[in-house]
Amino acid sequence: MIVPWLNDSGQTQCVLADRGDVLISQMTHFAQEWDPRSPEVQRDQVAAFDDMRRRQPVAWSDLLGWTFFRHADVVRALLDTDTFSSEVSRHLSVPGGMDPPRHTKYRRLINPYFSPARMAEFEPVCREVARDLLEVLRDREDVEFTSEVTLPFAVAVQSRFLGWPREIESEIARWIRRSQRATREQDRTVLSQVAGEFEEIIHRLLDARVSAPDGRDLTASLMREQIEDRPLTREELTSILRTWTAGEIGTVSASVGILIHFLRNRPELCEILRSQTQKIEEASDEILRLHGPLVMSRRVTTREVEVCGRVILAGQRVSLNWISANRDEEVFADAHEFRFGRDPGKNLLYGIGIHACPGAPMARLEMRVFLEEWLNSGIEWELDPEEAPVNAFFPDSGFSKLPLILHASEPMLRS
Ligand code: HEM
Repeated sequence: MIVPWLNDSGQTQCVLADRGDVLISQMTHFAQEWDPRSPEVQRDQVAAFDDMRRRQPVAWSDLLGWTFFRHADVVRALLDTDTFSSEVSRHLSVPGGMDPPRHTKYRRLINPYFSPARMAEFEPVCREVARDLLEVLRDREDVEFTSEVTLPFAVAVQSRFLGWPREIESEIARWIRRSQRATREQDRTVLSQVAGEFEEIIHRLLDARVSAPDGRDLTASLMREQIEDRPLTREELTSILRTWTAGEIGTVSASVGILIHFLRNRPELCEILRSQTQKIEEASDEILRLHGPLVMSRRVTTREVEVCGRVILAGQRVSLNWISANRDEEVFADAHEFRFGRDPGKNLLYGIGIHACPGAPMARLEMRVFLEEWLNSGIEWELDPEEAPVNAFFPDSGFSKLPLILHASEPMLRS
């Protein structure tokens, strides 16, 4: 039986499932009320989730168990960690699959890696990656933006952040594409292979640092960390690095594609962001509120609980739908419109509570730097009239293909 395993970002579903993952939840059968993989949902996930939130805000599917679509119910589950546990799988997932007090210790260890000082130090590297990718586009008339820009950008940034060699970047990009295809096609043999391949890549990178223990890069520094007066185990290190790469590269890549797709025919907004760069971060959070890059995160109930009139027994799987919660009309006025000046506390893009994204400063840095470089590159862009964008398939969001037509003019400015 394939039991889906999702990381915090819901991006590597089934990869580990096929390696024997067992959910710690009761397998209860209810009448299926929706199917996240149905063609109707896949045609337009955002619209389908809007529809579910209005019609059936807490709904059962065989694949995910209970899904919460309303902002209020998602927030309730995020804040009530006693009732909604993150220990959804017997596979180690540091720290996403942990509850307090264990979770707290690992978060203390991870948080400093995304401090303002580290982000400031990393910004020039991130900018160089964006500039190199965009420079090549200046001579092009068209581009498949996902495979040629957003994925290589996300891979290169993450890989350089961790201090990995450049040769590994194309290997990781290939791995992500293979993993996404295998997840889509539900090919168990390939799923099992790709899971093993990723661990092999990480082990190779760790082995290289065992033989050079004084290394100054971030991976070497993680290897020197202590938890409860002992070094992190190989399994813990692999789990941390898997979340920071396999999990989040897909989310960052989807986010950049969503931003560029949204801005394609909004010249006034582009002009505001060009002239007032301090507004880029707010704009990016708002665009990604409208079209979330992350579909869902999982929890499991520890006791019986009533949510939105539905009784959920103890030990049941729960999926928190970020895309829907962030478009809830009960919380956001004109919820489906872009607006400056919204209450940032209500936007669930990076989660809330103890599991709120530790990598948010890095993700925001990536969005800001990419948009600054893109908007000042002088490249004009539009959708390809002959080839429509292809929506990503659940559990991914954004666009699996984003063909664009490019018109190059002079770069606006360069700092
Ligand atoms: C646009 C990009 C990103 C988005 C939208 C995003 C969103 C989120 C969300 C919503 C959560 C909470 C999950 C939950 O409550 O179950 C989360 C957790 C997490 N994210 Fe991100 N994330 C992004 C990028 C990153 C990056 C770049 C990293 C690291 C390099 C990262 C590392 C993590 C980790 C380790 C967790 C688990 C935290 C915990 O359980 O305490 N994320 N992310």
